[in-house]
Amino acid sequence: MPGTVIVGAQWGDEGKGKIVDLLAQHADLVCRYQGGPNAGHTIIVGGETFKLRNMPSGILAGKESVIGAGCVVDPEVLVQELDDLEARGVATEGLVHVSGNAHLIMPWHVAIDQASERRLGKLQIGTTRRGIGPAYADKAARLGIRVQDLLDEKILRQKLETALAEKNVWLERVYGAEPLELDDVVRRLDRVAPRLAPFIADTSLLVDTALRDGRYVLFEGAQGTLLDLDHGTYPFVTSSNPVASQAATGTGIGPNRLDAVIGVAKAYVTRVGEGPFPTEIEGADQERVRELGGEFGTVTGRERRCGWLDLVALRYAVRLNGITSLALTKLDVLSAFDELPVCVAYRIRGGETTPDFPAHQSDFHHALPVYETLEGWSVPLGGVTSLDELPSAARRYVGFVETQLDVEVSLVGTGAEREAVLASRGVAAVARP
Ligand code: IMP
Repeated sequence: MPGTVIVGAQWGDEGKGKIVDLLAQHADLVCRYQGGPNAGHTIIVGGETFKLRNMPSGILAGKESVIGAGCVVDPEVLVQELDDLEARGVATEGLVHVSGNAHLIMPWHVAIDQASERRLGKLQIGTTRRGIGPAYADKAARLGIRVQDLLDEKILRQKLETALAEKNVWLERVYGAEPLELDDVVRRLDRVAPRLAPFIADTSLLVDTALRDGRYVLFEGAQGTLLDLDHGTYPFVTSSNPVASQAATGTGIGPNRLDAVIGVAKAYVTRVGEGPFPTEIEGADQERVRELGGEFGTVTGRERRCGWLDLVALRYAVRLNGITSLALTKLDVLSAFDELPVCVAYRIRGGETTPDFPAHQSDFHHALPVYETLEGWSVPLGGVTSLDELPSAARRYVGFVETQLDVEVSLVGTGAEREAVLASRGVAAVARP
């Protein structure tokens, strides 16, 4: 019963979609276990670019795709996504399964996310404004509306009426925003409910059965470890748990079903939104990395902040997720630099140097990176087809990461296409360790 988790090892946008797409060629089922349309997985197949939001990346490989109970779903965005995929010849019927227990992102969640960020002003989190935080907050407060509620018009209207009575007070009195009309919200949901109904399934049973039958299941994390609600750089985090162990909870299977964890990290670091970022690059080099790496948000179009590779943070991600091997993406972007600083430790308050991620927020906020500078390779990686063919300085860069973290780098990304990933021992062997 092979189950492999693919998890973001930094602040999201590590290129997970592309790695999932590659490994999905060898999988039977791909499951999303947390997050919602704040995720934006960009995948290029046969020269065509797909930007997925709610949908597991496995759908592009024609695999059964599950949206688990731990996810939040914007029903209108999902319908749009299904329609777009079908219009571009990607089959979804009979392949996409949405947990009835996943929570719905309602129009008031989006309105509150936007109003709350506006009100926070300089203190804002820099959310994607897709209603993620308010939807998870209502789930925890037991006021949420779930995917299965779409199946019963009467129950749905009752729940909407109860929720909206309270949410409109918040919108009007707390945020000074426009209230929402019950009939409008009901109409919007009535439009999408029949389209989504055939996709709603008992996904816990479905995934467990697949694993028992010996089918190979990939679990696709969204966002990244440092955006984890419990273990990330709180409060500049998302409202769910991207870490690998959530793959079990968010799908509804036992933790002993997970065999391997592939952490995905860029060969440098990016971050969108606010919050501390010790290795953020100063000056023109930041702009250079952003341009070369195309570091602009898939969902929001925002500029991503760019930094040098941070092995303190990555060491933390290895620990939190139990990472068994790493996929190091976008190595080609570093071809433009003669010298490559890599952060191996932080200098924290009192002048102490530590290789471990600080447990106290103030230590992290004030952490200064301690760099080792590695030699660059200064040639494009375009034609390289195996790890052995990499320039020796690039091999040393990858080897340095392995030695520092004591984890194998099993995949290296050298370009945007599905083919531009070098595998240490064949993609199938990496996918099914
Ligand atoms: P939210 O998830 O929209 O609530 O945003 C909370 C924080 O997570 C913000 O800093 C966002 O920029 C960040 N975030 C959310 N989703 C992603 C993602 O897919 N990639 C990178 N950052 C993300």
